[in-house]
Amino acid sequence: MSPFSYINGVLCAEQTPLNQIARQFGSPTYVYSKAALTANYSAYANACRAGGRDAANALVCFSVKSNSNLGVLSVLKQLGSGFDIVSGGELLRVLAAGGDPHKVIFSGVGKTRDDMRLALSHDILCFNVESIPELHRLNEVAGQMGKRAAISLRVNPNVDAKTHPYISTGLKDNKFGVAYEDALATYRAAAALSHIEVVGIDCHIGSQLLDDAPLLEALDKLIELIDTLDAEGICLHHLDIGGGIGIAYDADQPVAIGDYLGRLFARIDVWRASRYQGRPIKVMFEPGRSIVGNAGVLLTEVLYLKHGESKNFAIVDAAMNDLMRPAMYDAWHGVQAVVQRDGAGSLYDVVGPVCESGDWLARARMLPLEQGDLLAIMSAGAYGMTMASNYNTRGRAAEVMVDGEKLFLVRDRENPADLFNLERTLD
Ligand code: LLP
Repeated sequence: MSPFSYINGVLCAEQTPLNQIARQFGSPTYVYSKAALTANYSAYANACRAGGRDAANALVCFSVKSNSNLGVLSVLKQLGSGFDIVSGGELLRVLAAGGDPHKVIFSGVGKTRDDMRLALSHDILCFNVESIPELHRLNEVAGQMGKRAAISLRVNPNVDAKTHPYISTGLKDNKFGVAYEDALATYRAAAALSHIEVVGIDCHIGSQLLDDAPLLEALDKLIELIDTLDAEGICLHHLDIGGGIGIAYDADQPVAIGDYLGRLFARIDVWRASRYQGRPIKVMFEPGRSIVGNAGVLLTEVLYLKHGESKNFAIVDAAMNDLMRPAMYDAWHGVQAVVQRDGAGSLYDVVGPVCESGDWLARARMLPLEQGDLLAIMSAGAYGMTMASNYNTRGRAAEVMVDGEKLFLVRDRENPADLFNLERTLD
């Protein structure tokens, strides 16, 4: 069930009308539902425990890049979530939200020495290493600190995720991971390094996958490698399958999280019983979008209606700098009027105030609109605020977390004057 539904003709976040939130906090504002976050996280956590499975043998690490707001991270931490990070900055956020560094995994192709030092100083759970040079640098940094870095290799299984090319990451041509054919040699090299401790294997083939078949295909390839490594005496303790399943933006029908995890665990169980001698292996997930995507909307006000010869524009106060996905990926987001009006309305392109023709949020939508109306841009909880910029010196939106009838301002609206505080004039 969506956390955003109409009550007496007004779109609400849980029980709170969105027009009340706009009155209190202004617009544009990202609004998140704590109940939805909780339900989506629990879909993963419960599937990890289903059938009496030991919860200690699985770990859900929320992908911080999808939404890094401290309020969001703190809710997930309270639920027991781990975190998947891609920068030292994201680690600092996790720590500021009270997250446990021992449940943090560090992905990304370009970790700096500083990133590595910070992560090692907090004893994170694991580095997902993406290349041989990175392995050597990590060994060197860990050596300088008198530590051993726990690593997993991100292996590129060369599986087609059949998603948008910008968010498909598991093919040979992508910059990510170690090629499947090179994995064995890379593991051998890693095992020989004195400040590296080989603990796992991971992959991430792409985002917004609606079908789990490519993920299960990737799983089979990882399992094959684990067996080969095992025969060489390199024994792994965890298997990380990467990001989560996609979400419904429009009429998409993603596989249910419980069904996907059920199939994944069933395969792992068969393999463990037959070839892995029943030994335990911890299964890790790095979901982002499926936890927070449909738990958030972007609330925006119609500034002007512009009726043209061939097109009508609804110019709203949110723009591509607030929500990049339409401009960047041609992404479709639902648009709902906060207060329902009678009549079919007209066909509108919903656009922002930024000086770019690519600044659009939705195209050709039938909406009964009047100036001053509020709109909710749906499914905006993931890769919304985290990808926002200050283009056109626009302060970024406020963020509000709804918990039933309670509201928490989890990020203040940015004041444009603060945006140039770090700059200097020449005179
Ligand atoms: N793990 C790794 C290593 C990743 O690269 C990603 C996402 C995830 C986990 C989380 O995947 P998810 O569960 O959210 O599908 N900005 C794009 C999405 C980029 C995804 C990048 N990697 C968008 O707005 O669609």
